[in-house]
Amino acid sequence: MTQFEPTPFDIPSDSGGKDLGIFLPIANGGWILSKNKPELDGSYAYNRKCAILAEEAGLDFVMSMSKFRGYGGETSHWNSSLDPVVLMAALAEVTSKVKVWTTVHTILQNPAVVAKMMATLDQVSRGRGGLNVVTGSYKDEFAQMGAWPEGVDHDGRYDLAKEWVTAIKRLWREDSVTMDGKYFQLEDCESWPKPEKRPFLVCAGSSKKGMHFTSEEMDAIFLSGGDPVELAEASHAAKADAAAMGRYVRTYSMMTVLLADTDAQAEATARHYAAGLDEGALHGMMRAYGFLDAEIGKENAFTKKARSSFMSAHVAGSSQTVIERLTELFEVSQTDGLMLIFPDYMTGIPKFGQEVLPVLRERFPGKVKVGSHG
Ligand SMILES: Cc1cc2nc3c(=O)[nH]c(=O)nc-3n(C[C@H](O)[C@H](O)[C@H](O)COP(=O)(O)O)c2cc1C
Repeated sequence: MTQFEPTPFDIPSDSGGKDLGIFLPIANGGWILSKNKPELDGSYAYNRKCAILAEEAGLDFVMSMSKFRGYGGETSHWNSSLDPVVLMAALAEVTSKVKVWTTVHTILQNPAVVAKMMATLDQVSRGRGGLNVVTGSYKDEFAQMGAWPEGVDHDGRYDLAKEWVTAIKRLWREDSVTMDGKYFQLEDCESWPKPEKRPFLVCAGSSKKGMHFTSEEMDAIFLSGGDPVELAEASHAAKADAAAMGRYVRTYSMMTVLLADTDAQAEATARHYAAGLDEGALHGMMRAYGFLDAEIGKENAFTKKARSSFMSAHVAGSSQTVIERLTELFEVSQTDGLMLIFPDYMTGIPKFGQEVLPVLRERFPGKVKVGSHG
């Protein structure tokens, strides 16, 4: 699509393949708002097993989100969640190949602190560390700790993020950084050790401002939604925006995969989840997404979708059905990767690894580069 090449990070998309990874369930309940979902406690023990299973399955990355306030409801959805930086350092020690991508909120952490955290993760993981950069958008999540920047609106938070990421990139490569920004001031600021290689950077901005920030500064963008045609449009727009700035940005999406032996079984399980929708948790999620109290409890396009109880796009079916849906997704959208969520990671990851992944690898092998490294 563009003449620009991705910065290589030892992942399939370096040469046109698809990056496939796991969204780690670091918060209780995972990504299904239902009383009928499989038990998922969001503990370190569970996530440790997920990372090991992901590596054994041959997946490319595991990523952790960062959350400070849950959605409540009968299931206390996401009320308990792990710290993603400490978690990823630990998971780097129990794995050796899979990339370990953590998340940091730019409104919470000083860039010099995160520059050092990531340089440390770079050593622990031997070059496998990456960072999901999030601005923070749910006021209650940060106001509860006095950390909501009043007077900085949505787009302002991306201006802040732009200064933040500029500071971090400079701290990773320069001996001393002096920077007089609107949000961050560094004065002869030193940061050692340096990462051996700049860590992978990703962001999931879906607004115009967020997508532009991502195309300009990041190695990859998570696009929202699951419709292949809409993803194709968003992917094309992000890549064109990056190309206009002389860069390449990888485009990813996210999908919950409910695998069963037959389509009928998978669909029955999906209906069972929907029947147990946790209304209270749904209302909590809507508050976090910025819905006003007066709108909560009413039916609209958002609640219609949410009644499935899945918090992301999903596919439910046999391995064959999942293969066909994901093949169509990649063929139509031309995205570079997919982050997977499972209702039950303990059974989902191995089944996906054995029955789905080998076919996707074969269908989307990437190009063998001629001549560049002999
Ligand atoms: C895959 C993915 C991961 C995300 N991770 C987090 C996260 O860990 N913490 C958070 O506060 N927001 C997270 N978000 C929200 C995004 O950072 C972003 O704020 C949201 O998509 C809205 O886009 P906007 O900021 O451009 O309006 C995530 C979104 C996606 C799609």
